[in-house]
Amino acid sequence: MLIDRFGRKIDYLRISLIDKCDLRCSYCIPKGFKEFERPANWLSFDEIVRVVAAFARMGTRRFRLTGGEPLLRKDLPELVARLSALEGVQDLSMSTNGTQLKKYAQPLRDAGLHRLNVSLDSLRRECVEEISGSDSLSKVMAGLDAARQAGFTRIKINMVPLAGINISDIEDMIQYCIQNQFVLRLIEVMPMGVTGQKQVPVDLQDIIEQVKDKFGLQESNKVWGGGPARYWETPNSDFTLGFITPKSQHFCETCNRVRLAVDGHLYLCLGQEDKLNLLPYLRDNCTDVELEQAIREAIELKPERHEFNTQPEKIIRIMSMTGG
Ligand code: GTP
Ligand code: 5AD
Ligand code: SF4
Repeated sequence: MLIDRFGRKIDYLRISLIDKCDLRCSYCIPKGFKEFERPANWLSFDEIVRVVAAFARMGTRRFRLTGGEPLLRKDLPELVARLSALEGVQDLSMSTNGTQLKKYAQPLRDAGLHRLNVSLDSLRRECVEEISGSDSLSKVMAGLDAARQAGFTRIKINMVPLAGINISDIEDMIQYCIQNQFVLRLIEVMPMGVTGQKQVPVDLQDIIEQVKDKFGLQESNKVWGGGPARYWETPNSDFTLGFITPKSQHFCETCNRVRLAVDGHLYLCLGQEDKLNLLPYLRDNCTDVELEQAIREAIELKPERHEFNTQPEKIIRIMSMTGG
């Protein structure tokens, strides 16, 4: 079992498979950004399997594939099949922008992927284009359909409300998710990297007040996944709305996760730079015991919490490097 200095049990590893993406969401990758990691420095599938197996031996049970856009990684279902077959991997999920799900939802499901979270910030074509830099709405919708048909249930839609851009779309998104049996999650935008975009902070506490009466939502104590969301539900549980509020109500005291970046660095917190590079261990053919020891040492470095509110300029690396 991995326990950090603050007594938190670490049982959730998030793996950024690639820092590239086919979209350019304004809060994630700056327009014109070109400094992506060289493929030679990407963890190979063998290396990822080794790290996941080591975490699983140490009691980690939840694993999430993220990016960038994980589906840009060639032959991804092959990696999913290898990871889902590992002993101890109980929850294997993926966060994706959905543009390629039409092609990959079924192969991913067949390979053993358990859960899918899909980013979608609006149902208005021009708004999606404004935020993501691409006319991608119809592709994402087709991807969501394919995911449902492939048998994924309780698919989560991640929406980042941005003041003056899509914040007025929240009620339409709720209606859409009710109709399609998706879980909707609203995420407070975090100041990650130099995106060149001024991010007007959005306080989701106000939104909860606005929508809870309209849709008859009640706070739920069910846990829908391994992440930090707090959930609200309709009385008959046919719709669930999650709030991820790193800024207005942070959840660091219950943090259970660390992040493996595309280049092998293990980041201990989304909002801090503390990290340990596992690549030299993996490329120098370390033993399993040495790898586990390195991971334990890294866990000792995990900081107490982020400083997004007090030091919003602190994190220079962009979101796609470590995964959301
Ligand atoms: P499940 O609950 O297991 O479905 O997953 P999740 O919500 O952890 O995963 P997802 O990739 O969908 O993340 C949703 C949002 O939560 C993203 O914007 C993440 O950046 C944010 N998030 C996840 N973990 C943390 C965290 O430890 N700290 C902060 N500040 N944000 C997080
Ligand atoms: N702040 C909050 N959420 C973000 N995401 C990406 N960048 C940010 C940011 N700066 C979200 C995406 C995706 C999830 C994995 O992370 O919307 O759904
Ligand atoms: Fe954990 Fe850091 Fe996220 Fe807080 S900001 S929940 S400590 S990873």
